[in-house]
Amino acid sequence: MRVLHAAAEFFPFVKAGGLGDVAGALPRALQEIGLSVRILLPGFPTLLKGIEIRREVYWWPDLMGGGPARILQGRSPDGLTVYLLDSPFFDRPGGPYEEMGDSDRKFAAFSWAAAHLARHGDGSGWHPQLLHCHDWQTALAPVYLDQEPGNRPATLLTIHNLAYQGIYPGACLPGVWLGPQVFHMHGVEYYGQLNFLKGGLQFADRISTVSPTYAQEIQTPAFGEGLDGVLRFRKDSLVGILNGVDERVWDPATCPHLDAHYDVKLPSGKKVDKNMLQRQMGLQEDCEAPLFSIISRLAPQKGLDLVLSNVDYLVSLGAQLVVLGSGEPLLEAGFRAFAERYPGRVAVHLGYNEGLAHRILGGADALLMPSRQEPCGLTQMYALKYGAIPVVRRTGGLADTVVDTSEESLAKGTATGFCFDEPSSWVLGEAIGRAVHLFREQPRTWAQIQRRGMKQDFGWHAAAKHYRDLYASVIGGM
Ligand code: ADP
Ligand code: GLC
Repeated sequence: MRVLHAAAEFFPFVKAGGLGDVAGALPRALQEIGLSVRILLPGFPTLLKGIEIRREVYWWPDLMGGGPARILQGRSPDGLTVYLLDSPFFDRPGGPYEEMGDSDRKFAAFSWAAAHLARHGDGSGWHPQLLHCHDWQTALAPVYLDQEPGNRPATLLTIHNLAYQGIYPGACLPGVWLGPQVFHMHGVEYYGQLNFLKGGLQFADRISTVSPTYAQEIQTPAFGEGLDGVLRFRKDSLVGILNGVDERVWDPATCPHLDAHYDVKLPSGKKVDKNMLQRQMGLQEDCEAPLFSIISRLAPQKGLDLVLSNVDYLVSLGAQLVVLGSGEPLLEAGFRAFAERYPGRVAVHLGYNEGLAHRILGGADALLMPSRQEPCGLTQMYALKYGAIPVVRRTGGLADTVVDTSEESLAKGTATGFCFDEPSSWVLGEAIGRAVHLFREQPRTWAQIQRRGMKQDFGWHAAAKHYRDLYASVIGGM
């Protein structure tokens, strides 16, 4: 089976969140089970530098008013065939989603290039049977494919986060090379505006999202971000497939960022990593203090305001908190203020730091993820692997990957973390209290839960097989 992926992020070159991790790992996992998989990415400077370019596949004098553009073919350091859309749209400083007033054309151009490459092949004999699009930045590709007559490949659109849709004024339509024939309620139109994701949801042959629970949730008004109607309409074509963990990158037994390596059989290195983390972050070097952590985009979706109202409580319990994140200025300021109020107990690093993310999970006893919505969530799975027990809200992929500690789950031997339902500070506080109590009063049970988490198999192979079967059924139905 030949499958072309299209995504706006690709670990380790471009990553704003979990999408980068998925795009960096899934194609390879699919290759390992025998598929021919390639990926189209935007030609961001870090990719043009990091990918070994072999040849030019297509060239256009002007792509959507962005100037001359071309598709280049190359190879990633681990041998994946990568196509890059080299265009002035992507040759800019800043993050991948830096807004410069033309994001509509920038990602429409990317979607259009994906559709073109998928339909016409790469000119040297590789012709995909299916185009797998990720998120709104690629969601117009199925629309473009639909607009041109003739045979086309099958399409799958994966929703990594419904909160981001790519919504622009209706007047942008001609600029993205679409005509009025698609500007209606069964097309790209959304309350008079142009909605990339909605277009993809209407035109893709199949839709997937990144956990079974989120696949159900998004069909309800509470989680549907205004598109629950469309998703209910397409529910027979919608499936949830849980993401995996790239064990080449996230494994405490080999992680190059840790001071000491450890695993289930020899867990003692974690104590060293805790001590080193406390030292590095200016926390009191106290192995008895339960060390909670946060590694997150500081976005409203993540529910971190609930943590802010629990920091005093957490410190009063003798616990410590380390935060790595960036985003909403109010949340940044809130955490910074607590670090000033509680030196040695609360430490905050604002910004993005891949190595520190690994060291935090290596050293922390627990991870807080009180998300209001979480399509899948990768950080809690990384935390489980690193023996940092997750404290999570029971939603989306968090509900699918963490089992709450209760008398029943302890008896059954299934507990892996602490879960709560209601998104309130009080209820999160209760979960934090339960965690601290167990850490202090029942250290053996704590260690058992920790070990169980470390043993969970979240490798990509299970998801890869799911996708393979899904691809086969879509291609078979064409
Ligand atoms: P989302 O994609 O919604 O941000 P996920 O849990 O799926 O949430 O993935 C987040 C990814 O981004 C993880 O790999 C996590 O380690 C990483 N991450 C988030 N914030 C930071 C940060 N400030 N520094 C380093 N890595 C971060
Ligand atoms: C999104 C979601 C996150 C998910 C990630 C990868 O950014 O917010 O829950 O894990 O995509 O699918």
